[in-house]
Amino acid sequence: MKRKPQMGGRVLSVASEAVPLVKTGGLADVVGALPEALAPAGWDMRVMLPAYRALRGLLAKGNGFREVMREEALFGGEARVFAGEAGGLSLFLLDAPHLFDREGGPYHGPGGDWGDNPQRFATLSFMAARVAREGVHLARGKAWKPDVLHAHDWQAGLAPAYLAYHGSGGCASVITVHNIAFQGHAPARLLGELRLPAAEFHADALEYYGGLSLLKAGLITADRITTVSPNYAAELMRPEFGLGLQGVLAARSAVVSGILNGIDTEIWSPEAEAVNAYSATSLSGKAKARAALQAEFGLSVPGPLAVLVSRLTDQKGVDLLPAALPDFIEGGGGLAVLGSGDAEAEAQMLSLAARWPGRVSVRIGYDEALSHRMFQGGDAVLVPSRFEPCGLTQMYGLRYGTIPVVAAVGGLADTVIPASPAALNAGVATGITFWPTDVLALTQALRRLNALYADQKTWAQLRRNAMGQENGWAGSASAYAALYEGMLR
Ligand code: ADP
Ligand code: GLC
Repeated sequence: MKRKPQMGGRVLSVASEAVPLVKTGGLADVVGALPEALAPAGWDMRVMLPAYRALRGLLAKGNGFREVMREEALFGGEARVFAGEAGGLSLFLLDAPHLFDREGGPYHGPGGDWGDNPQRFATLSFMAARVAREGVHLARGKAWKPDVLHAHDWQAGLAPAYLAYHGSGGCASVITVHNIAFQGHAPARLLGELRLPAAEFHADALEYYGGLSLLKAGLITADRITTVSPNYAAELMRPEFGLGLQGVLAARSAVVSGILNGIDTEIWSPEAEAVNAYSATSLSGKAKARAALQAEFGLSVPGPLAVLVSRLTDQKGVDLLPAALPDFIEGGGGLAVLGSGDAEAEAQMLSLAARWPGRVSVRIGYDEALSHRMFQGGDAVLVPSRFEPCGLTQMYGLRYGTIPVVAAVGGLADTVIPASPAALNAGVATGITFWPTDVLALTQALRRLNALYADQKTWAQLRRNAMGQENGWAGSASAYAALYEGMLR
């Protein structure tokens, strides 16, 4: 057999979030995990992020960041790229105070989305493309020029476009779709200001329903397109999931692939928890964690204790809970919720807690440490998403023996083996799936959760299988390495 030569190279990963520096969702987990996951295969990945207000402190003297590139005037101010290390990542930080030194989140301030988001993230993409095209000099004059630019979501969508339209300097490009619901819309009049070619403003290129979509720009210009699960890659070519971009993806299907996300199995490890640690063969810590979680949430649940840790938005299907829960609660189940998001969804969750005191309890907010205690102490984790490109919480659940109850969409279907009679007989089931994402199907899934939980032998087997499932980065990292290598050949 011919052995594949070890290749490797350099990758510039361009995104709006990365753990541990800035996070609003799973995108940050993935961007933050990729560099370490890819290093063993010989890939040197640097992450480029905007220097939001909370990150500008890193640029202060003494932290080792140095300026490697400058653009005098971009959308009304200067943009400078600094190279350095922080949070275990090799970084390029884009400092453009007129665009990023603001009070608020990465995408919105107190009054909603920033009106100049297209310009803000065009600046990120423009400078990333320059770094990719020209290369930079790091400390001691060491040259660094990427072989591949890896753009994530709409915020980096213009980076492949700038390479395609202004010259690539030999750098290949790939864009990963983490969530097609966010498309980066912009009015057509920004075309010139964003330095995009007027000749490309037609339906087969940059134009999107009369305007621009920064994501579409990336999808039509990148050499390769990936998304975060194989199932979502197929779903995206259908209108109900492609959300307007299905035709663009179908037209490029030859270069579209799905690579499942992994999870960080050191951070998400029941064995490594400071309090009530446990393992698949010694579960007494889990029983204690469950008791502690009930106490913390003021719950007293005779049947399965389900947890839900999520952004509270339409995507996540949490609005189905009021109608789907009565049956579950009556059958002995209970629910602990941690989430934040749409005001209406938050209020709806709080009303569930008021309706079933002692059986449903809700914390509104974002709390990483609490989320650990919930995966630790829960019996099941609910993910009733309408669509889910990959999803991470079902994988945390698997790792903690907290059985996932998930809608069979996107990456949820790719990561959970449903407890069908056949899978139970074969001893491979890891969770409960339902479809479609509606009240009836969720009600039935929750009924099944009560029944499986009551059957101690089957439940123990499910939990063992779940905890034995491989969800780390190793497999996905080699898929990305193969993708990059394929682009260089
Ligand atoms: P998405 O990126 O669509 O929100 P994912 O499942 O990929 O969905 O990732 C969500 C990430 O954010 C997970 O790491 C999850 O644990 C975390 N998370 C979501 N909401 C909260 C919260 N309220 N508190 C703590 N962590 C949260
Ligand atoms: C998006 C998706 C989620 C996915 C994450 C990381 O936020 O909604 O399903 O896990 O990106 O790829």
